[in-house]
This record gives sequence, structure tokens and C-alpha cells, in this order.
Amino acid sequence: MSTKLRIRHTLSIKLIKGFFSKPTPSNMTTNNELQNIIDEGNRLNHKIEIVSNVKSGKEATIYKVMLDHQLVAMKVYKKPEERSFKNTGQYLMGKYYKKPSHRKAIEKGNKFAKKIKHQSWVNREYFMLEKLYELGAKIPKPILHIEDAIFMEFLGNQDFVAPRLCDITLNTAEAKNAFKKIIDNMIVFWNFGIVHADLSEYNILWWNNEPYVIDFPQAIDKKTNPNAEEILDRDLRNITNFFGKFIKTDFDEIKKAFS
Ligand SMILES: Nc1ncnc2c1ncn2[C@@H]1O[C@H](COP(=O)(O)OP(=O)(O)O)[C@@H](O)[C@H]1O
Ligand SMILES: [Mg+2]
Repeated sequence: MSTKLRIRHTLSIKLIKGFFSKPTPSNMTTNNELQNIIDEGNRLNHKIEIVSNVKSGKEATIYKVMLDHQLVAMKVYKKPEERSFKNTGQYLMGKYYKKPSHRKAIEKGNKFAKKIKHQSWVNREYFMLEKLYELGAKIPKPILHIEDAIFMEFLGNQDFVAPRLCDITLNTAEAKNAFKKIIDNMIVFWNFGIVHADLSEYNILWWNNEPYVIDFPQAIDKKTNPNAEEILDRDLRNITNFFGKFIKTDFDEIKKAFS
């Protein structure tokens, strides 16, 4: 059986199991989109087999996938027309579009602009993951980028998906360790010149007793974004407030580490 057929077979199993239980037009688009990613993967000599749908959020869907026989996470961004881009203004602020045609489109806010923003969103997340992983941040290892899909280390195993911090209760020792590791990560981001900009217990996964920061497309550049410090403070408050439930945390004290 060819990879393509096998994947189609896998998808049809999903339909039976109810993953895409209501075959609405947008679900059909999802299936076509997945097939495009698989086809493009084949063209690049990669074998992609979709195991299951892990989570479908506002901006993207995460799948558990076998990529060249290795278990990985695949994050597929929703099509530009299905996304609001409501909150992108502050993140893309100060972002310079080199091509005059792109600049004009962004100014006008037309369909082409949505496409450019969408692409820059996907590329941005992959770029951030690569850079931050190289710098030693505790994040899923980026593996491959095809079309609107990002492949990265799967946090979990065959039977289990790592929970988010908001889904678990930590004991004092775990909370102390996790809090320190997350602040260390934030310092790596800051020293590299970025702020995550959506950091909270919802974007941190807990795996092998360690916290992993995820979800980077909205990360901002501290040099070009005039609100960088404010956005850093918001991230830091989310983290100190969350850990305040388990251990003593002091925002002002922690803030001193960010110079
Ligand atoms: N590398 C990963 N390994 C396992 N699960 C993941 C991974 N990345 C994301 N997830 C799961 O998918 C969810 C959504 O991913 P996220 O990157 O936060 O996208 P969104 O933009 O939809 O919030 C996460 O809360 C987590 O449950
Ligand atoms: Mg998220």
C-alpha cells in the first residue's frame, strides 16, 4: 500500500471513530490540507503517517504523527480565512515587510495581506523554535517545516500526551524546580531579544517532571516592539501568579534578572 493510500485509510478510520465526526466543509478542507502536507512530505522523501488528533485550538490543530517512523507532534495552522488575526497587531508591530507589494497589502489589509501574515506566523514559530532550541531553552525540539505544518518533538508517548501546567497540581519541590526552569527559559528568550508574549500555564507542558514552553508564533522582538517590557511583565505576572498557588513568588525580585 502506498503512503498516500495508507494515510487515507488512517483518516477514514478517524472518521469512523468520530475524530471529524461531522463532515462539514471545513473538516473536508482539513482533510485536503492534511493530504497536501503528506504529498509535499512524500515529494521531499519524508513518510508522514497521522496517528491521531491531539488538540484543535483557535489557531492550529496538533496531531500525533509518525514522521519517518519517529513519533512527533505536527502543528498545522488554520487557513488564513479561518483565523481572525485580531491579536496580531501588537506582535507584528515594528515588523518590516521588505517587498513594496507586501507592504501595500498589509496597509490595505486585503486577502493577500492575510496570506502574508499567515505565512509569517508559521515561519516565525519555526524560526523561534530553532533559535531557542539552539540556545538551550527547554522547548520541544523542532524537526521539520512543510507548508503550514511544523513538526517537533512529541511531549508524551504512544499512550499519553503531556498535560499542560494548568491541568495538574504540583508539590512544593516540583513547583520550585519548575518555576526556576521557566524563569531561566524566559531569561534565555529575553537575552536573545524576544518575549514569548502568550506565556501562561496554558502554554507550558509537563513532561518527565520538567516544564516545556510551547506556542511561539506571537513572540515579539524586544528591539522593535515598543511594548516589549509591558508584554514581558504580563508573561512574568502570569507565571508568578500561577506558581504563587504552590510556593512563594516575588514578581519584583524575579524581574531584576531581566536587564
Ligand atoms: N510538542 C507537543 N507535544 C505534545 N502535545 C503538544 C505539543 N505541542 C502542542 N501540544 C498540544 O496541543 C495544544 C495546542 O498547542 P499550541 O502550540 O499551544 O497551539 P494553540 O495556538 O492552538 O494554543 C497544547 O496545549 C498541547 O496540549
Ligand atoms: Mg497554546
